[in-house]
Formats: sequence, structure tokens, C-alpha cells
Amino acid sequence: MKRVTIQSSRTYDCVIGQGLLEQLGMLMRAAGLQAERALLVSDTRVTPLYAAQAAASLEAAGYRCSMHVFEAGEAHKRLATVEGMYAALATHGLGRGDVIVALGGGVVGDMAGFAAATWMRGIRFVQAPTTLLAQVDSSVGGKTAVDTRAGKNLVGAFWQPSLVVADVDTLDTLPPAAFADGMAEVVKTACIRDAALLAKLEAKTPRGDAPELEAVIARCVDIKRAIVEEDERDAGVRGLLNFGHTVGHALERYSDYTLSHGSAVAVGMVVMARAGESLGVTVPGTAARLTRVLTAYGLPTHTDARPSDWAPLMMADKKRHGEKIDLVLLREMGDAVLHPIDVQEAIAQVLP
Ligand SMILES: NC(=O)c1ccc[n+]([C@@H]2O[C@H](COP(=O)([O-])OP(=O)(O)OC[C@H]3O[C@@H](n4cnc5c(N)ncnc54)[C@H](O)[C@@H]3O)[C@@H](O)[C@H]2O)c1
Ligand SMILES: [Zn+2]
Repeated sequence: MKRVTIQSSRTYDCVIGQGLLEQLGMLMRAAGLQAERALLVSDTRVTPLYAAQAAASLEAAGYRCSMHVFEAGEAHKRLATVEGMYAALATHGLGRGDVIVALGGGVVGDMAGFAAATWMRGIRFVQAPTTLLAQVDSSVGGKTAVDTRAGKNLVGAFWQPSLVVADVDTLDTLPPAAFADGMAEVVKTACIRDAALLAKLEAKTPRGDAPELEAVIARCVDIKRAIVEEDERDAGVRGLLNFGHTVGHALERYSDYTLSHGSAVAVGMVVMARAGESLGVTVPGTAARLTRVLTAYGLPTHTDARPSDWAPLMMADKKRHGEKIDLVLLREMGDAVLHPIDVQEAIAQVLP
């Protein structure tokens, strides 16, 4: 088992290892969570796989556990689903001293976290991420969100969990496409801060190798920890985590969210590596290397959509300040920088 301690407005541990769902309740007690009641929140795919195990562990540790399940999928990441959580919180009588446990991928974590941030103006919550993406990225850092008609993740709160329990055994049941999605964020993390991690990923896939997965996830969490500790509220260096995301978000929107986040980010990273090379910021050959590793993990590296169609959607990026946008570029593998650029020039850069 590996443990990463994140020091932000709340200090909390992220524990990563095998067989941890069975110890969930005990780990929460060890982290000092003295709540009486716990609401276990999950989706319809994860519930039949892991909810019984998680609930039994909570009960065994003395929490009075109730369950709330909603329909799986990004389409259900909306306020109506959060309202369902509020109703469950009321029905089961959860108060200020109680705790929400999010069991599932980023969709469950983002919404259960948002419910925790807002229920009674904030109660504690625990993340038990079950996708690779959630284990390496969304469960750490305290960003919670829902999608609205105005756009994806535009409504949310910074609300740190009290504990993150990432059981790598749960990744065994992930469909290949969902695993690949998470690998896009793993490759992203390696690209921005850790060339050695990238070389390791090039040599061998961690899929199916629990100790290796544990090491890779812990490394990604530790990199995110360092960045988030420096910039909890996303005013500067945290922007580096957005490598590939400015283009990725535009592609996701353009596809009406039929393209997965990981696939969109994979394409976005290659576009940015090319743009960096043509701007003279990125070491030549970086885009080709990135293309090889993403392809090896079953991720796309180009899109048939015409850039003139999707590139203008970069205007809606949250990282835009007036006419400027901070692009994340690589100097070389493992070394990313924020590169402020005129939005129109950024759009021109991604056009062939
Ligand atoms: N808060 C953040 O900092 C942050 C960062 C990155 C992404 N996100 C958000 O995360 C979401 C994407 O997360 P995701 O990719 O985990 O999506 P997800 O939660 O929709 O999970 C993907 C699918 O896998 C299923 N699933 C989950 N765990 C499983 C398991 N162990 N075995 C089998 N199936 C399983 C889910 O039910 C779902 O159908 C997006 O909404 C994105 O905006 C948030
Ligand atoms: Zn992402």
C-alpha cells in the first residue's frame, strides 16, 4: 500500500493499493472520521460490482450506512442527479457531522463531492475511485462539478475530500476503453513532470500488474499533489494539468461529447506537441514520440474533424483571459510550461 499526504485547505491522505475496499471503513476510522452515518453514493454500473463490499466495510467499522444509486454515465452528471442525492441525504438524516462516500469513477466523485460541498454548507466526504482516471486525477485536488446547459463543469466548488481510498483491484473490471481513457491522463502527467515515468510506460503496460499499477498511480497522485499544493484554487501552475485539454475540451464539445475525454485529450496533446515544435518551444520529435505511446495504449492521435470547425470552440476555454489564453506546451518530455498566447494565434497554431 502506498500513501500520499496532500496538504491543502484540508490535509488528507490518498491511499493506493490492493484489497482496500474491504478496509474502507477501517481506513476512514484511522483517518479520524468520527461520523455516525455514511451515505454511500454510486452509479448503476459500479453498484453491483463493489457496493456490497464497501457497505459491509463501513458497517463493520461502526458507520450506519445508507446507499444512493444513480444512473451511470456522463449524461447523468447534472443538477437533477445532485438533487436526488440531497433527497437521500435528507431521508437518511445525514447532518453536519456525517460523511458521504463516493464509490465510482469521476462522474460519481465530482457529483458526490459537489453534494458534500453544498449539503448543509459542507459536510465531509471520502473518495473511493474505481476508474483509472478517477484514481490518478479526479479524486485528488478537490475540484467538484456538475454539467449544466451552459457547459460541462461550469458549476462546481473547491471541496477537498477527507480521504481517498484507491483500490487497484477494482480496475480489473474496467472495459479496455475506460482503461485507455485513464491512461491518457497518466501519459499527460508523465509528459508534464516525469520523463522517467514516460519511459516506463513506453517499456510496458501496467494493466494487469497490480504492484506496477499501484506504483504508477501513486506517482501520478504525488505529481498532482505537488502541483495542487502550490496552487489549490487553479490560479497558476495547476494549469499545467491542462496539457492537451484546451484542444481536448473543444473536440469533446464539437463531438457533442460522443468522443471520450481521454480520447479527446490524447488528440489534444499531440496537437499541442506539434504546435510547440512549430513555435520552437518543444524539442523536435516530441509529437512523434507521444503519438507512439498513445497509440500503444489504444488512444487516438488525430481527428478527422476539420480544425476550422472545432478550433474556434477553444474560445470558450476556462483558461482564457480576454484575448489571451495560456497554452500548456512541453519544452521536452517531463517539462511543461504555460505559454500565454493570443487566442486567435492559438487557433491559427492548431490549424494545419
Ligand atoms: N474533479 C476533477 O478534478 C476531474 C478531473 C478529471 C476528470 N473529471 C471528471 O471525471 C469524469 C470522467 O470520469 P470517469 O472516466 O471515471 O467516468 P465515469 O465515472 O463515467 O466512469 C466511466 C464508466 O465506467 C464505469 N465504471 C466505473 N468504475 C468501474 C469499474 N471498476 N469496473 C467497471 N466499470 C466501471 C462507470 O459506471 C461508467 O460507466 C468527467 O465527468 C470529468 O469531467 C474530474
Ligand atoms: Zn482530463
